[in-house]
Amino acid sequence: MTDNLYQPTTLRIADSRDEAPDVRTFRLEFTDSGYRSEFFRRYRVGMFGLYGLPGAGESVFCVASPPTRTDHIECTFRKAGRVTSALQDREIGQTISFRGPYGNSFPVDSWKGRDLLFIAGGIALPPLRSVIWNILDRRADFGKVAIVYGARTVADLVYKQELAEWGGRIPTAYGGGTSSGYPSVGRLPTANGGGTSSGYPSVGRKDVDLTLTVDPGGETPDWKGKIAFVPTALKESAPSSENCTAVVCGPPIMIKLTMPVLRGLGFEPKDIYTTLENRMKCGVGKCGRCNAGGVYVCKDGPVFTLEQFQSLPQGDL
Ligand SMILES: Cc1cc2nc3c(=O)[nH]c(=O)nc-3n(C[C@H](O)[C@H](O)[C@H](O)COP(=O)(O)OP(=O)(O)OC[C@H]3O[C@@H](n4cnc5c(N)ncnc54)[C@H](O)[C@@H]3O)c2cc1C
Ligand code: FES
Repeated sequence: MTDNLYQPTTLRIADSRDEAPDVRTFRLEFTDSGYRSEFFRRYRVGMFGLYGLPGAGESVFCVASPPTRTDHIECTFRKAGRVTSALQDREIGQTISFRGPYGNSFPVDSWKGRDLLFIAGGIALPPLRSVIWNILDRRADFGKVAIVYGARTVADLVYKQELAEWGGRIPTAYGGGTSSGYPSVGRLPTANGGGTSSGYPSVGRKDVDLTLTVDPGGETPDWKGKIAFVPTALKESAPSSENCTAVVCGPPIMIKLTMPVLRGLGFEPKDIYTTLENRMKCGVGKCGRCNAGGVYVCKDGPVFTLEQFQSLPQGDL
């Protein structure tokens, strides 16, 4: 099979790690080299796949790894119901079904030379992770990179190891400071001169400005980091909107409260991107499950600018 991406293929779980309570990342290897080639020919950051198990069904997750790594893909997902529970019961060495990549993507090439601001909440970091690694793999093409990421509690922050790499400081008692003035997580020891256990090269960088925050009431006693909702943390860090593109992923309430902050900072709706997570079934524009007015979120999305988002019937979102 090389050209029918509607037909599922089989992926082998090469690694599995827990990110947060009920949130797991699978590293997945293609068992069919033809499907793998076709996948990477088509895959761009922001696209999604349908991951499943015979008898249980399929679930939609973004592809959380960038197209610059072509030996595997990764997905990170929260146990929410029947399919995700069945998937989390799978172990290393076992297989799952997969079809994709589907949907549109972030226009990363059009962002060349611009500063980038990523804003994420909770489990919504995975769709941004693929973009962030894609940008870091092509670091010279872009200007400043800033990330504002928050979760309900410290335990709910996902990709703690990569946050440490991006933030470039030690997570000991979550102390230390960054150039943004916000405490951050840490620099990890690099194994073998640069590799890390996440499988990605250590960036340990000053060229990513990371702000981590947890919701008020969600901190633990040793958290010395920022305590604020994401929109508040963003407002306080007040990044410049000049020559900057913003990408926002998170729960609907976070997105709703973040957009006015970005507008207040001077970001134009055409320079703000987000992703929609309407319920889906076929994933390829056939069943009508995901519609927002005349727009198929599975085919025309899931990536939209705020300008496009505002033109959709809000009751369908
Ligand atoms: C484009 C896209 C990308 C996504 N990426 C990810 C990802 O990377 N990681 C991840 O964990 N999840 C992601 N999701 C959400 C994920 O698809 C659902 O959580 C999952 O399918 C639930 O499957 P289930 O059978 O286990 O749960 P179900 O039994 O179907 O549902 C369990 C609970 O989750 C709710 N739910 C199910 N689907 C959605 C949805 N689309 N939006 C909001 N609530 C929902 C249900 O209302 C119910 O309360 C994405 C969804 C879309 C559309
Ligand atoms: S999920 Fe079937 S049309 Fe979009």
